[in-house]
Amino acid sequence: MSDFRIGPLNHVGVAVPSIEQACQTYRDLYGATDITTPFDMPDQGVKVCFVNLPNSQIELIEPLSDASPIANFIKKNPAGGQHHVCFEVADIHEAVVEMEKRGATVLGKPRIGAHGTLIIFVHPKNSNGVLVELMETPKGHH
Ligand code: CO
Repeated sequence: MSDFRIGPLNHVGVAVPSIEQACQTYRDLYGATDITTPFDMPDQGVKVCFVNLPNSQIELIEPLSDASPIANFIKKNPAGGQHHVCFEVADIHEAVVEMEKRGATVLGKPRIGAHGTLIIFVHPKNSNGVLVELMETPKGHH
């Protein structure tokens, strides 16, 4: 068996009905000071921003329309909710091969994520109900 393994926790994804209100909550309630400007990812149907923390990030995700994959999640969880966790990996293509070899269900093909590097998702049924994002470590990190 390959010694493929996940690396650092990169971020926790949180789906929200309003990214603006969610940013305000992180500022006003938790005192977060380093929050990135929201940007649209039309291919994924979402608007995204990051709350930067000393050791990690919270990724806030708002659906761009009813057709967004996040829209259903918000329908079921109107106040928003924890959507996924993201671990870094060295090589996304190796990750896909190994995940499938180990019996996991990889959702979709590798695609560019919010950090500009390749990502995949692993079905929640493989990880105690948690949707897992695997993301190639951005260059210059770690
Ligand atoms: Co993410």
